[in-house]
Amino acid sequence: MKKITVIGAGNVGATAVQRMAELEMGDLVMLDIVEGIPQGKALDLMQSAPLMEYDSHIRGTNDYNDITGSDVVVITAGVPRKPGMDRKDLLKINSNIIKDVCTNITEYAPDAVVIVVTNPLDPMTYLASRVLDMPDNRVFGMGGMLDSTRFATFVAMELGCSVKDISAMVIGSHDNLMLPLPQYTTVSGIPITELMDEDTIQELVDRTINGGAEIVKYFKNGSAFYAPAASITHMVESVIRDSKRIMPATAYLKGEYGYDGVYAGVPAKIGREGVEDIIDLKLSDKQKELLTKSVVNIQSSIELLELE
Ligand SMILES: NC(=O)c1ccc[n+]([C@@H]2O[C@H](COP(=O)([O-])OP(=O)(O)OC[C@H]3O[C@@H](n4cnc5c(N)ncnc54)[C@H](O)[C@@H]3O)[C@@H](O)[C@H]2O)c1
Repeated sequence: MKKITVIGAGNVGATAVQRMAELEMGDLVMLDIVEGIPQGKALDLMQSAPLMEYDSHIRGTNDYNDITGSDVVVITAGVPRKPGMDRKDLLKINSNIIKDVCTNITEYAPDAVVIVVTNPLDPMTYLASRVLDMPDNRVFGMGGMLDSTRFATFVAMELGCSVKDISAMVIGSHDNLMLPLPQYTTVSGIPITELMDEDTIQELVDRTINGGAEIVKYFKNGSAFYAPAASITHMVESVIRDSKRIMPATAYLKGEYGYDGVYAGVPAKIGREGVEDIIDLKLSDKQKELLTKSVVNIQSSIELLELE
């Protein structure tokens, strides 16, 4: 039985645990700093098992001893951006959380594959990889996976077809400089560039880029969690089953796309070892230019990190 830990028992973390339990992906541990919340949510999920018919065991805890032996650790611990807080403030607060969480992962689960979800995603994944004492391929981020499932949803809505036939690709940073790629977004193998005019594609691209904000606008005080949890589940499943599925992941670049020593969203093969390969796609000149903007922006956030 595989052991999967989720750090942070908030909206994203607890929903991911629910999805993974229902799919019987392994024994689950949910850890949070707030006492009682992970324990209560775990018990509530265990009491759903007889009806939903899953045998996964779920433990809620505040004690890092319980994550010992984890095959995968997902980091969703963090605070959301509050009114009056700028990007730099959020970066600082969540940096301290990532440092604390990763120091504990190094001590208690040094053999795990680690998936970072906490925002701002790209610099947080970079920071996690610096604090964790493990190979770069075993640390990656979930961002483009969510952006791609949003793009796929909007394509299906526009075409009035099944989402099951759509495969979408979004690369770059997990923010408004992300890069949805229409030529690599297909419906049963047919690129959407063959199925829609440029203006329609641009509308879907823009909606994807604003996909997170569109939901925040509805919630007012909080951000999306169902699709993020589904994205986490998809990535964890590829690791624990060693499926080697190809999907967007925030991976460490060593020359791919012309960048070195930075984490950014790219298509990657995900398996037992984490990121097992990166696919270097052919991009148009315009897309190369936009990717540069996106990566330069990630690099400037990385420079703000206080790395000792
Ligand atoms: N990468 C993505 O695509 C994506 C998508 C959605 C949300 N997010 C990010 O995921 C994070 C969580 O979002 P959410 O909606 O679940 O927030 P939430 O506030 O519901 O949950 C966050 C949880 O983290 C816990 N926490 C805080 N500090 C901790 C620490 N040091 N150790 C352990 N737990 C700690 C909190 O107690 C809380 O339960 C945020 O940073 C959010 O921006 C990322």
